[in-house]
Amino acid sequence: MGKVIAIDGPSGAGKSTMAKLIAKELGFDYLDTGSLYRTVALALREKGIEPNDPDDKILKALNDITVTFKGGRVFLKNASRFTPHDSRSNGRDVSEDIRSKEVDYYSSVFSAKKVVRDFLFDIQRNAASINDIVVEGRDIATVVFPDAWKKVYLDASLKERAKRRCLQFRERGIYISMEESRRDVMERDTRDSNRDTAPLKRAGGALLIDSSNLSIEQVKEKILKFIRAET
Ligand code: DC
Repeated sequence: MGKVIAIDGPSGAGKSTMAKLIAKELGFDYLDTGSLYRTVALALREKGIEPNDPDDKILKALNDITVTFKGGRVFLKNASRFTPHDSRSNGRDVSEDIRSKEVDYYSSVFSAKKVVRDFLFDIQRNAASINDIVVEGRDIATVVFPDAWKKVYLDASLKERAKRRCLQFRERGIYISMEESRRDVMERDTRDSNRDTAPLKRAGGALLIDSSNLSIEQVKEKILKFIRAET
């Protein structure tokens, strides 16, 4: 097992940006676990699965799919839904498809299910089996890698996170109002933090950073200083 730097926090706190920068700086691999939950949600919806379907039906559908994360891109292979792209060794690249508003919603809803979390547990653990890695998500330091080498909890105000989400959509040519963004972020926060299985929370010993009024460079420096400190 390599060294793991775990970064948790709510949506829009800047985890992906930071995890990529830290991984690059230290020469670590990088895993965005949110994209795994997003890919599973996309695959389940493509298979016509509803969030309130029984667990055995969801599990059967999950067993048909293979999710891989390579070079910052995510690939989906769906054994029972053959498309020409699925025949490629990695499956189809769904890195863009998983960023829709619909997947925002369904990934948060399906990720509350234990059956889905159990399915992704080994995939996440295996990612750290060889190389050192920065892993970001909601339960990385609390559940997936409770023995992580360094733990960071990255937060930002609701207003700031809603603003960042608005801008991210607009960069992709999708207009959403600040009010809609704020509502969506708040709903996801509530769902991700209050579910029974592996809710979002700060792990003991995790460095807490509020990035609301900090530049990307300032947050990066705080994390690097924490990582490099002798403990
Ligand atoms: O980080 P993100 O917004 O891409 O994640 C999408 C959803 O996946 C999020 O609403 C909650 C879920 N998720 C999770 O439950 N556990 C993780 N480790 C990562 C994401």
